[in-house]
Amino acid sequence: MHVVRSVLELRAAIAAARAGGARVGFVPTMGALHAGHLSLIDRARAVCDCVVLSIFVNPMQFAPTDDLATYPRTEAQDLELAAARGATIAFVPSVAVMFPGPRVVAVVPESIADRWEGAVRPGHFAGVLTVVAKLFNLVQPDVAVFGQKDLQQVTLISAMVRDLDFPVQLDIAPIVREPDGLAMSSRNRYLNAGNRAVACALSRSLAAISQAYLDGVTDAAALRVIGESALTAHVALSIDYLDVVRAASLESVAVASHGDYVMLAARVGTTRLLDNHRLGDPFPALP
Ligand code: PAJ
Repeated sequence: MHVVRSVLELRAAIAAARAGGARVGFVPTMGALHAGHLSLIDRARAVCDCVVLSIFVNPMQFAPTDDLATYPRTEAQDLELAAARGATIAFVPSVAVMFPGPRVVAVVPESIADRWEGAVRPGHFAGVLTVVAKLFNLVQPDVAVFGQKDLQQVTLISAMVRDLDFPVQLDIAPIVREPDGLAMSSRNRYLNAGNRAVACALSRSLAAISQAYLDGVTDAAALRVIGESALTAHVALSIDYLDVVRAASLESVAVASHGDYVMLAARVGTTRLLDNHRLGDPFPALP
């Protein structure tokens, strides 16, 4: 795996791959790689000869109250994991490489970005879209792989690609979970043992909603109550939001149908965790 830190080196490495006729896949990350990230490399490798992985903790998507300073940074281990999984190029830019001067232009989404995560983290998605647009322009991939884990993020990136005509094909990967159901996340390493056990309640809540829907419950308020009952037993857990939304618009629905998503965000101790599930799909079996 070729590790590059500057734009010039990145462009040269990609040009060399392209000259050999390679199809280029791209997996953007903020590092602290786990099995969810590695599954994205697998998907890119399945359809591309050259897989670019980026590791960049993007300050623009963190609010001043967010965890930018403490976000886990495990570069040496990340590079080992990515190389072992078959990434071809790792792009690991500094903040100065990505944002060399005062920034004048950003990609700012419409009001769909103001709800859910956007309501809790104002400006977050402008930060995400701006850096993803920059990375797309730097890498110019044929295929870019993102996780369904961050449903609102992937919804907005899909909208950006469509509305701004980025010449890239998006591939959306399913959520990779721990054996007990917890969706993998770089932030899971913030959880102490007690809170790690409590965090399983998120997937249990989604599993209960998923099953109730498959059993015929379509009233969104009733589905929310079913999901909440799996969460409210834990004093260390507080719900930020739990709702049934339509795909693409992410608007709440009163009556659920196939293809709608249940979106859940909760704090366990001080750690914010996200999870979601597409209604109509079976939820993975939990222990
Ligand atoms: P990060 O949180 O590092 O996630 C990188 C990619 O991994 C995202 O597409 C995310 O959805 C995916 N991912 C995370 N957990 C996953 C899981 N359990 N299963 C499958 N995929 C998972 O998301 C970001 O970084 C940033 O916002 C980024 C897009 C890189 C822009 O800075």
